[in-house]
Amino acid sequence: MRIFYGFNQILTMSGGPYNAGIIEKGAIAVKDGKIAAVAGEKEMAKMPFSRKAEKIKISGVAMPAFVDSHTHAVFARPRLEDFSLRSSGLTYKEIKERGGGIISSVKALREAGRQDLEKSLLSWIEKFAEHGSATVEVKSGYGLDADSEIKILETVNRVSRKTPVELVPTFLGAHSLPPEFKKSGDYLSYLIKRVLPQIKKRKLAVFADIFCEDGYFNPAQSRAYLSACLKSGLKPKIHAEQMKKYGGAQAAAAVKAVSADHMDYAQLKDLPSLVKNNVVVTFLPASNYFLGLSHFPDARPFIEKGVCIALATDFNPGTCPCLNMQFVISCAVTHMKMTIEQALYAATFNGARALGLEKKIGSLEKGKQADIAVMDAKDYRETAYYFGSNLNLATIKKGRIIYEKGNTVRC
Ligand code: NIG
Ligand code: FE
Repeated sequence: MRIFYGFNQILTMSGGPYNAGIIEKGAIAVKDGKIAAVAGEKEMAKMPFSRKAEKIKISGVAMPAFVDSHTHAVFARPRLEDFSLRSSGLTYKEIKERGGGIISSVKALREAGRQDLEKSLLSWIEKFAEHGSATVEVKSGYGLDADSEIKILETVNRVSRKTPVELVPTFLGAHSLPPEFKKSGDYLSYLIKRVLPQIKKRKLAVFADIFCEDGYFNPAQSRAYLSACLKSGLKPKIHAEQMKKYGGAQAAAAVKAVSADHMDYAQLKDLPSLVKNNVVVTFLPASNYFLGLSHFPDARPFIEKGVCIALATDFNPGTCPCLNMQFVISCAVTHMKMTIEQALYAATFNGARALGLEKKIGSLEKGKQADIAVMDAKDYRETAYYFGSNLNLATIKKGRIIYEKGNTVRC
């Protein structure tokens, strides 16, 4: 038994939707990687196991470790050229037309060696842990052919065995049309016939995702494709309504997607069917920030209508080279009209829901995995307030300190 104590506050996220469940001056007892008790320090001292337990003091604010439920962390190179072009005034669409965008990442990834990809992903994962994330979803999608997509998913699975951070692989072969194909329908058929069976057989991914956007894949294609993926055992996710209203939200509802992500242009009339079909809406406001967009989605109608909202980074080389969930939380509070408590809940408990892991992680409750982030703060609100810096002091995974400020991740 191990007791972490000295916390100014503990945010348990245990009181139902968007309730931070705060305990002042609290302690967390952990046994075999799971939470044995969360209580005020005085109460904890009275518990029968308390006297003999190993005690570890960490001063700060404890909360569930962040669950980053949407990243594209396997890529070969940063897209600094795209960034330069955007700084001189070009849009994401114009950069794509000039040969930049997703396809430039595809070219680089196809040439990249497996060891280099593995090394690169492992070093990103250490940085996620440094910023307080202990579970990270990782998508493929920069390969766009059988060998390269499988190379990415194998990388995720291999790195997953080398790090204490939990990685959740998602197959995003339907990210863009590769240069070998002229028609998106032909490419989707290829994915279904040639790639999905291999992923299914080797259990390389948990989720399947598609980029449902004008110029990529349409809502009818998304629906049919995700249904085929579901038949192969991959649970559906979707990139929807990012750049304009296009119909991805209804496709998400029709296939009962686990989550619909981006959703900047989802409409009020989409919300009841999302609630009815249990679709988590994942907002990715750091990508809006990085693309210099003035439009951010307003989270209030979603919350009022009972939609489950998650927040994630969208870490990727094109639209969001940021892996810090604290920045995402700050963006959501400042630009999306979320309260601080709502944003923190969306980055933890609802992030876990977006991965179907809410029974295991996302809140600090007896019996759940002891995945904890500790912010260097007296008051939890500082997490969203001191934006742009990393307040995380320590990341604990299954009761073990995997990151401590000043130290590297211990595997
Ligand atoms: O979530 N929207 C599609 N895919 C990624 C980034 C694509 C890119 O590499 O530009 C996203 O924003
Ligand atoms: Fe994305």
